[in-house]
Amino acid sequence: MRSFSGRDILSLRDFERADYLRIFDVADELQSYATDRRDTDLLKNKTLLTAFYQPSTRTRLATEAAMHRLGGHVLGFSDAKMTRAGDFYQESIKDTVHMLEYYGDVIAMRHFQMGAPTEAARWSTVPVINCGDGWGEHPTQVLTDLYTTLGEKGTIDGLTFALVGDMRMRTMHSILYAFSQFDVKAYVISPIEMALEPEFKAQLESRNVQFEEAPSIEEVIHEVDVIYMEPVVQPDYTLSRQEKAETYARTPPAYQVTRDLLREGKSDVIVLHSLPRMDELAPDVDCTRHARYWTEAFNGVVMRMALLALVLGAME
Ligand code: CP
Repeated sequence: MRSFSGRDILSLRDFERADYLRIFDVADELQSYATDRRDTDLLKNKTLLTAFYQPSTRTRLATEAAMHRLGGHVLGFSDAKMTRAGDFYQESIKDTVHMLEYYGDVIAMRHFQMGAPTEAARWSTVPVINCGDGWGEHPTQVLTDLYTTLGEKGTIDGLTFALVGDMRMRTMHSILYAFSQFDVKAYVISPIEMALEPEFKAQLESRNVQFEEAPSIEEVIHEVDVIYMEPVVQPDYTLSRQEKAETYARTPPAYQVTRDLLREGKSDVIVLHSLPRMDELAPDVDCTRHARYWTEAFNGVVMRMALLALVLGAME
């Protein structure tokens, strides 16, 4: 297994099974700090820099919370309009990162442009963590999803997942890459115009990922152990900022999860959602035994503690 120390976390495409298991082990080791709401001084001499060119609630704050739990320092921006990258100058990733690398020991970046964190990593001497890049990938979210699955089910191997939503989304790309390292089956359920791209499907096939397209969640609900959801009513991920329109489409029932639908499924099926949600996940699911998206909020901090400790060399 490659060492994590100094490593960029840009994509799950080339993650090996041992990488996932190592991150999950370290997360287990560090979990009690978050559970007990205690801080440690593991990263007391280190600084996290968050460079968020796109809005975020969970990813930025969970990463910052993780760094605080580990005793490190945090600085950064959550609105690129307040930097020279977002004003008249439109400063390039290269020039920006040549500054940022001296301000922190690790850079957590979200960007509306696919590949921007990879470009940043080319110019940075400190590790770069991809916190979501356009329609590209979202590795830290999917590590959280899989860590939650492992915690709730005791295994990832042997499970059947339903992936419901827009298959062009970065989370869907990362989770399907991750499935290449586990013995899982995935049903892929999306409107036709949001289906997996042919080139991406070919990549999955070449990696022996077991996936099958299905017309609706109802069709497969009785078979699945984990439902992983995203909206099908989407913003444009290539834009830096987009307000919700006055009128927006509603999610068709084929891609919706409700309390009634879950009655037709396995009694222990769990529902994950990276959030934010629209109307694809009914609020009445929140207080059922199936909902695990709030557990994910906690696990998101723990998993990012593990990732920061590993890339900054505090854990090996
Ligand atoms: N899951 C996720 O990426 O949420 P945020 O956009 O709030 O970070």
